[in-house]
Amino acid sequence: MEKEWNFLRGIRGKIEPVKKAQKRSGGISGALLCTRREVGGLTMDTGTEPQLWQGDCLSILPKLPSHSVDLVLTDPPYNIGVCTQRRNKVAVNEWDRISDYVGWSLAWLTECQRVLKPNGVLYFWHNDMRQIPALLEAIRQHTELAFVSFCIWNKGETYRAKSWRHRDPDGKTALRSWFNICEYCLHFFNAPKDADASWKCTGLDRINSNPSCYRPIKEWYEAEKRRLGLTDADISEKYTAVTGRKPHMLRHYFRDSQFEIPTREVFEGVYEALGFRYKSDGCQGYVGLRKEYEGLRKEYEGLRNYHRCDEMHSNVWNHPPIPSHGRYHTCQKPVDILERILRVSCRPEGTVLDCFMGSGSTGVACVKTGRRFIGIERDPSMFDVANRRIRESAAD
Ligand SMILES: C[S@@+](CC[C@H](N)C(=O)[O-])C[C@H]1O[C@@H](n2cnc3c(N)ncnc32)[C@H](O)[C@@H]1O
Repeated sequence: MEKEWNFLRGIRGKIEPVKKAQKRSGGISGALLCTRREVGGLTMDTGTEPQLWQGDCLSILPKLPSHSVDLVLTDPPYNIGVCTQRRNKVAVNEWDRISDYVGWSLAWLTECQRVLKPNGVLYFWHNDMRQIPALLEAIRQHTELAFVSFCIWNKGETYRAKSWRHRDPDGKTALRSWFNICEYCLHFFNAPKDADASWKCTGLDRINSNPSCYRPIKEWYEAEKRRLGLTDADISEKYTAVTGRKPHMLRHYFRDSQFEIPTREVFEGVYEALGFRYKSDGCQGYVGLRKEYEGLRKEYEGLRNYHRCDEMHSNVWNHPPIPSHGRYHTCQKPVDILERILRVSCRPEGTVLDCFMGSGSTGVACVKTGRRFIGIERDPSMFDVANRRIRESAAD
């Protein structure tokens, strides 16, 4: 019980200071006053927001407070040996070759889960179908992240490799499989196991089966029952007499188990007829009860994993690839897609973490949509690119 109320306070408590900070600093762009400093041997850009850290995320993530982030949106190395071409020389990027890739992935994912709020959301990009199943299985077994959606970035008919058309009669062709024009984005809800059963759920159950929710209404009900000297059997009998139905719903009305309030008809015909009187905020009877219920329901929305549907809400995202000329990073992600993910999965005052920020695309999307951003990048020159991009987008 205490833990649940701590969660409630935690969530409410975090939102307020952020709003205040944004107001004080005139919004995100005004707050982007980063200055570099050394923190425990690491270079960090400090300031109210965004927070940009340069270094290995496995060293930096443990420095972030638990339950402080609403959304992790990140693009880790895919472990496929991504190459960069410079002056006709092709080189494999060292950061994209990792031994014990699944173990390493679990290390950063576990840290991300620790910093996520209990109702946080996590996305990570990948494109290797051989490694994704192993990752999903490891996540299922060893983390408390609940897999929700498999999203596809369809880059469209933009790749037209010549080999596609050069099939010779002997069947000798360079391409031996369907050409992949997609990247994938895996979507999870935080579902902490150490919390009450209700907290393992991702949606409405977190509210309706949470004993701490709707407490004022539940306490009113118990107090009225005592005042009127009524038993559950008395209420059941009245309910069946008035509605003609078996009293199954009475297990939920005003109770901890899948809490509900009755309809006006049932409230007036059964409860008020038995002497129950509801008064709240100047409103009496069913109107008062409904008003209190709606107020609390809105407040508890913050306990659910955040998800706001938009138009064409499917898991296929059509967007052309970023042309190689003029892009900052070989694996750069389109800011449009990232902005959409933020709008759908992170409340407007929320905090977003990208622990493999590369050229800072997630940070740019955060600035554009008014979310706070924490970014980590190991490569010093890429860190500088990200820092500059994020500052410039804030100045726009
Ligand atoms: C796939 S790229 C991210 C690209 C990014 N989405 C963008 O739009 O620019 C992954 C990045 O993670 C960085 N990286 C790899 N291992 C890291 C680690 N252990 N800690 C922090 N950054 C790391 C790499 O330097 C690389 O820039």
